Amino acid sequence: MFRAGFKTLSFGPRCSLSPGLSDCRHHCRKTPTKVRVSDALSGEALGGDVTVQGWVRSVRPQKENLFFHVNDGSSLQSLQVVASSSLNNTFPTFGSAVEVRGVLKKSPHPKQPFELEAEEIEIVGECNPVDFPFKVKKKHSPDYLRQFPHLRCRTNFFSSLLRIRSEATAAIHSYFKEQGFLQIHTPVITSNDCEGAGELFQVEATCPQESEDRNFFSVPAYLTVSGQLHLEVMSGGFSRLYTFGPTFRAENSQSRRHLAEFYMVEAEISFTQSVEDLTKVMEDMFRSATEQVWAQCAEDVDLFHKHVTPGHRETVEAMLKNKFTAISYSDAIDILQRSSEDFVFSTDWGCDLQTEHEKYLVKHCGNLPIFVTDYPYDLKPFYARDNRGHPQHTAAAVDLLVPGVGELCGGSLREERLDLLTARLEAAGLEDTYSWYLDLRRFGSVPHGGFGMGFERYLQCILGIDNIKDVIPFPRFSHSCLL
Ligand code: 4AD
Repeated sequence: MFRAGFKTLSFGPRCSLSPGLSDCRHHCRKTPTKVRVSDALSGEALGGDVTVQGWVRSVRPQKENLFFHVNDGSSLQSLQVVASSSLNNTFPTFGSAVEVRGVLKKSPHPKQPFELEAEEIEIVGECNPVDFPFKVKKKHSPDYLRQFPHLRCRTNFFSSLLRIRSEATAAIHSYFKEQGFLQIHTPVITSNDCEGAGELFQVEATCPQESEDRNFFSVPAYLTVSGQLHLEVMSGGFSRLYTFGPTFRAENSQSRRHLAEFYMVEAEISFTQSVEDLTKVMEDMFRSATEQVWAQCAEDVDLFHKHVTPGHRETVEAMLKNKFTAISYSDAIDILQRSSEDFVFSTDWGCDLQTEHEKYLVKHCGNLPIFVTDYPYDLKPFYARDNRGHPQHTAAAVDLLVPGVGELCGGSLREERLDLLTARLEAAGLEDTYSWYLDLRRFGSVPHGGFGMGFERYLQCILGIDNIKDVIPFPRFSHSCLL
């Protein structure tokens, strides 16, 4: 019978040059091939002498053999290691980090195609399973996992999420590259409040400044709420641009769809004709990224669809199959007013759509994504294009609403007409602050527009995850900044 232990183990044959050594890496061995767990599981290096490194996900001692599973984050499945009892009488514990050398063989068990027959096991990092917050075979809830942001990458739920997040990032970059968009690194520190909502984090040096000037940058500086204005600067010379980076909002919200730090994908397109030029890119990007994630992370996505949100796969498949519909804000208000739902917030024309309204509209439209266009002018920031000539005063702005989440993307055509933009900035007392923005309209202004998509909300949408804090490695929100 095996006994749990924490010391380094070695089981190699005796060295002919140094007979005192049972573990001779210097004279006796060809260097084994290092393989990732995912490669081992696909049969790479079958029959060969290999080394696998990772963390122990389960341990099953039996009379003849010790079975344990090793995972290195490269796949959802772990690799089964079989260690004969003749090797040693100590074995790695659940949670410990190990390096196993052995021969990769076909497994006699139908559940796994290949397994590693151990010849040498090294415990790289011990783990006391009694104190380790995760237990073998126990299904821990996302709420529980959230308490351990420093350890949750060791669970199936969170490692799947991180692989999907990484693939979705790559898929979004691929989409824009294929469509001829140029990536711009917009700044994290900025002196403007793009959305004008005043939800800013100010940036200051912690060390005292030598000069009289109190501000490190000589002007108040903030963490960016959006890269839009910097993209607009560059759209004076490039017709298709995007940026994908962290954005920050000091919203005092604990909601399931708000973070203080989140990632935003933003695109800016020049020479636009209408809002449809934007909605087409939003829809194509959503489809292309989701299809790539589906194809590349099938097992990980399945984990969510089977065990976390059963039935969500069908919802996403319907989103991919059907063309997204579009309704105007005025039509949306009409639908809300005719509904029998008891809304908490007002549904009068001119009111902003709240989450309850957005979710209702999505359900009303067949639980499929919908674009809502032409919002009241006064609801939108200074940059939104005035829909002159419409019966009500609206701006050429558009939001994409999706099942389960509500608003996924927000965008607009930008006001490219100097006189209208000047008048709006003057009315807000912002014409000096944004004199450089007015210059963009003075020197070769073109009709243009763009949008931003909240990346965490995108992940919530495709995976059916209820709480935004479960789709980002280190969630930041009011009264919480762990690690
Ligand atoms: O609608 P928003 O505020 O649009 C802008 O910032 C524009 N300047 C973008 C542009 O046109 N380039 O934000 C865009 C998206 C929202 O639709 C939402 O998905 C996400 O960003 N978002 C948040 N995600 C998580 N936490 C928050 N606090 C968020 N605020 C907005």
